[in-house]
Amino acid sequence: MIFGRVKPLDAILATAEKKSLHRTLGPIQLTLLGVGAIIGTGIFVLTAAAAQKAGPGMMYSFIIAGVVCAVAALCYSELASMVPVSGSAYTYSYAVVGELLAWMVGWALILEYAVAASAVSAGWSGYFMGLLESWTGFRLPELLTAGPTWTMNGLIPNADISHGLINVPAIVVALAVTWLLMIGTKESAAFNAALVAVKVAALTMFVILTLPVMQGEHFAPFSPNGWFGPPGTSGLGIVGAAASIFFAYVGFDAVSTAAEETKNPQRNVPIGLIGSLAICTVFYLLVAAGAVGAMGAQPTALGVQPGSAEFTRQCAALVAQGNEPLVCSNEALAHVLRSVNYTWAGDLIGLAANLALPSVILMMMFGQTRIFFVMARDGLLPEKLSAVHPKWKTPHIVTLVTGIFVAIAAALLPVGQLADISNSGTLFAFFMVAIAVMILRVRDPNRVRPFRTPLVWVIGPVAAAGCVFLFWNLPVEAKLVLPIWGFVGLLFYFLYGYRKSHVGRGLVEVHETEVSDLEPPVPGVDEPGR
Ligand code: ALA
Repeated sequence: MIFGRVKPLDAILATAEKKSLHRTLGPIQLTLLGVGAIIGTGIFVLTAAAAQKAGPGMMYSFIIAGVVCAVAALCYSELASMVPVSGSAYTYSYAVVGELLAWMVGWALILEYAVAASAVSAGWSGYFMGLLESWTGFRLPELLTAGPTWTMNGLIPNADISHGLINVPAIVVALAVTWLLMIGTKESAAFNAALVAVKVAALTMFVILTLPVMQGEHFAPFSPNGWFGPPGTSGLGIVGAAASIFFAYVGFDAVSTAAEETKNPQRNVPIGLIGSLAICTVFYLLVAAGAVGAMGAQPTALGVQPGSAEFTRQCAALVAQGNEPLVCSNEALAHVLRSVNYTWAGDLIGLAANLALPSVILMMMFGQTRIFFVMARDGLLPEKLSAVHPKWKTPHIVTLVTGIFVAIAAALLPVGQLADISNSGTLFAFFMVAIAVMILRVRDPNRVRPFRTPLVWVIGPVAAAGCVFLFWNLPVEAKLVLPIWGFVGLLFYFLYGYRKSHVGRGLVEVHETEVSDLEPPVPGVDEPGR
């Protein structure tokens, strides 16, 4: 009976036992860690897509998505602190709900991490092209700076290549980061802190420059597409924008995963989590208010999805008239600043995005390789994938496979759709984590929990329901990806993992090499779920 294939928690913990990390992180470091992992393409790029969906009402969307993340984060932290080993939600699920569902969670995490890395690569591309053009006047042909626009004909995807064929800069950045990870490049803690400072400084500058030039009339109509979008549409309105902008908060799990290295985790983990989410929410609200107030944020037309063929056509026409609105921009924040004649500041924020976004790609891709590594080590993926390079000491094969996948997705899909797909996987994983926390409270109430979710019987159900709610309000294409991806995953499991699984074959071993023996590229922001 496959649901009986549970990996004993004690075996998982014994693997982690031999290395005990020093508890060094305090509440401030933890909060900064979270802010550094969170801020990225979401605010720098997807602000435009959120405006297309919700207009100025996107300010509510940032709050809704932030609240769902906060409750999910509290659940995540309990498991992260009691099962402090690699593999994130995948490992927790293996111990709690068994192999089949754990496999499905791990499979969904591919959407979360790898597709998020693709989304950030595509987002970086927009800023890179904008900066290049502003500094040198050079533009790559349109067809080489974006993927095709996709429409669904029933279940058959249909590519329109009139405004984009392949996103070359996104491929270049994704492969460059892959290379850095393969050869085991590490960011120093100081370099990472500097990048966090660059992002925070860029957003602060944006707020300082835009708030004084706000115009009240730009806020009306406040929610042109209402809460749920016009009838017959999916993924629009304030709630639809919340489901997309959820992406802007992904990455806070870095705080949960650092629980093991935190002094007094019961107190400091929630401070770090809620603190970093709160700081980002405030920043996001101020940035959104600045963007709306300075430039206006009305959709091109009501009921039109960003990234759709219709949207691309409308934007091409507006750009041809020299009248590019916020919603059409690939470098939203830089575009707002340039539109109010702060060209230098637009370039500066573009430079900040160009410098800082690759480190978000690096963290996401790193998370993905470590999850693959653990799944391969459990026998659910070919074990060759977990081979470690003798000189570089990195899982180079799995990194290369991940990098190629990330580059292909970044080349062929628009950033907004990639973010929506990533969200669908993340929401599924967070949903499972919320359920697993509650199951484990009942099944194993006496186990030591360094961090306990407060009011778990309120927070747990609210987190699970919040994830379902946001998932339900994603555009229909992104929603469809999860079951289709899940189906492929099930096939793979029954054709491969079911037979090869170490737990299935009775090999419940304590692993000699923990993933943490492989060097993390960013000190303190290492593998998820550890
Ligand atoms: N939150 C991260 C970003 O917005 C994933 O890029």
